[in-house]
Amino acid sequence: MRIFLSPPHLAGTESVYLQRAMESNYIAPTGPLLDELEQAVAERTGFNHALALQSGTAALHLGIRHLIDTRHPANFPFPPLILASSLSFIASISPALQMGCEVRLIDAEEDSWTLDPVLLSHALAEARAEERPVLAVLPTDLYGQRCDMQAIQGLCAPQGIPVLCDAAEALGAVRTLPETPAPWAEVYSLNGNKIITASAGGLLVSDDKDFIEHARKLSQQAREPVAHYEHRELGYNYRMSHLLAAVALAQFDVLDDRITKRRALFEGYRERLAGLPGIRFMPEAPWNTATRWLSILRLDALECPCTPEELRLHLESHNIESRLVWKPLHQQPVLRHLRMYTQGVSDRLYAEGLCLPSGSALTPADLDRICGLIREMTAV
Ligand SMILES: Cc1ncc(COP(=O)(O)O)c(C=O)c1O
Repeated sequence: MRIFLSPPHLAGTESVYLQRAMESNYIAPTGPLLDELEQAVAERTGFNHALALQSGTAALHLGIRHLIDTRHPANFPFPPLILASSLSFIASISPALQMGCEVRLIDAEEDSWTLDPVLLSHALAEARAEERPVLAVLPTDLYGQRCDMQAIQGLCAPQGIPVLCDAAEALGAVRTLPETPAPWAEVYSLNGNKIITASAGGLLVSDDKDFIEHARKLSQQAREPVAHYEHRELGYNYRMSHLLAAVALAQFDVLDDRITKRRALFEGYRERLAGLPGIRFMPEAPWNTATRWLSILRLDALECPCTPEELRLHLESHNIESRLVWKPLHQQPVLRHLRMYTQGVSDRLYAEGLCLPSGSALTPADLDRICGLIREMTAV
């Protein structure tokens, strides 16, 4: 049987919640389980307000849209400016680009693989020198690891720049430095390969009540609160369906268990692959307890006898899925024109990194088999 990179892992209670959704007679668009989910999400993430949507991408879109509506004057001579992580999935920035923003990309730092605050400070200084206000800083919490929010907010908060954090991959990761200021808003994804999933789905959280209320309205075609259909602005059809909220609630109940399992899996890889030449793992940054959504190897080109791609093909020949680390956004053909602040870290991580099967239902026997195959390729 194929071993996937990060397949869904059912809680077993999805049908119970779905039954409740059916009995409430609300199939769509909203219903009591959506309210329950949003309350659970707000409590879990520590924000006052939460909104459940069809995807993480939709949540990012609504964040950018609200900032443009409220902070970018219509007659301003330049497009809104966003500073974002380059080591990320394209969905981090495609809504901003589609809305006409200029996006400048910031490299990762070695110690966390997340946005480098030193390069961010250069980018902010350059924007200031050009008299370009920054609409938002958009860092990514990568592979279950939080970015350095304390340093990022240390730069952004004094300048009043909102931080919209793409935490799509990091639901359940905990910032452990108690004094860390929260970002303006965070986005999570519940798509099929995430640590918990509703098959699809996105979550938007913030302490900014006006923002979440506006996003809620926009997500339902921006209908005004009157009896007939009245529209003063254009919206989207982005709200999560009541049925998916039921699945999400069942999955939320097992989030802690899934984090424990993924962290244990990571330790399992680390123990079984100890001592192999040129092999390292993604570090855990001191400011968080990561979820280890994915377990990631880093292969040193000088010491390790195979490349990540050769190892990927070897695993694939045994019906095991693995994946290269994100190709940095600045290397994407469609994004090559974007300004980039780099020291080559994300290029190296892309060249050296391989994401290993990380599903929370993997067994010790699966792990033994995967690690045996990795040893075949990497032992000298
Ligand atoms: C970093 C990152 N940003 C955004 C997204 C988009 O989330 P969704 O697939 O729910 O639209 C994902 C998920 O694939 C992601 O990994």
